[in-house]
Amino acid sequence: MAEVIVFESPEAAASHVAALLADQIENDPATVLGLATGSTPGRVYEGLARLVRDRSIAVDAVSGFALDEYVGLEPGHPESYRAVIDREVVRPLGLDPDRIHLPPVADGGSPESCRVFEDRIARAGGVDVQILGIGTDGHIGFNEPGSSLGSRTRLKTLTARTRRDNARFFASEDEVPVHCVTQGIGTILEARHLVLLAFGEAKAAAVAAAVEGPLSASVPGSAIQLHPRVTVVLDDAAAAELRHREYYDFAWANRPR
Ligand code: PGA
Repeated sequence: MAEVIVFESPEAAASHVAALLADQIENDPATVLGLATGSTPGRVYEGLARLVRDRSIAVDAVSGFALDEYVGLEPGHPESYRAVIDREVVRPLGLDPDRIHLPPVADGGSPESCRVFEDRIARAGGVDVQILGIGTDGHIGFNEPGSSLGSRTRLKTLTARTRRDNARFFASEDEVPVHCVTQGIGTILEARHLVLLAFGEAKAAAVAAAVEGPLSASVPGSAIQLHPRVTVVLDDAAAAELRHREYYDFAWANRPR
């Protein structure tokens, strides 16, 4: 069962996750983070950077693996996820860039380089906390509807909906890459703790399908139901279509301490 926590605002939700991550790193300085990009986790990274500074948390042994990366952008493109992770995570937190890894796109995401990426996650001891967003089409990472629930890191084709959703980061929709390399659903499920964040009414249907709908490759986010330790962190708008909202609020208010 996932823990579903609904906050009154994205800011409050992001603060909760930032504190969770700060505690994790304080308890285990060699934490391996699973890093999501997109608009949703930005405030989490900002909050975490503040906590790292205020509490003087050592981060030099922290490592990180990004969920996904576009194929076909020139190296250094500001919207490549390497650039986004560098700008929003590595530099504000003061992480060691050599410990931060992105899915391999330089060779177009060959099966061999994807295997090397997976091996690197395994050699790091696996991901401790995987931060996840969810697409309006239900994707996690860039595992679009139809992705195998057992999939590993591989080359994928983005849906028209994802390319439309992400066009805001580019000059036009045509500039959004068609392909990406993403960690697979099987890869994501091996992280020890999944923390899925979603804000805003545009995510409400995808959240309800992922948390309460049937387990289905048609809604890749529903794969979180297979994981023993999931925390879903939402604002009111993203929680609007949950049938069991009252119970989640009750369980959170009465959480065992
Ligand atoms: P967003 O993307 O945070 O930009 O809404 C989420 C996702 O596509 O996984």
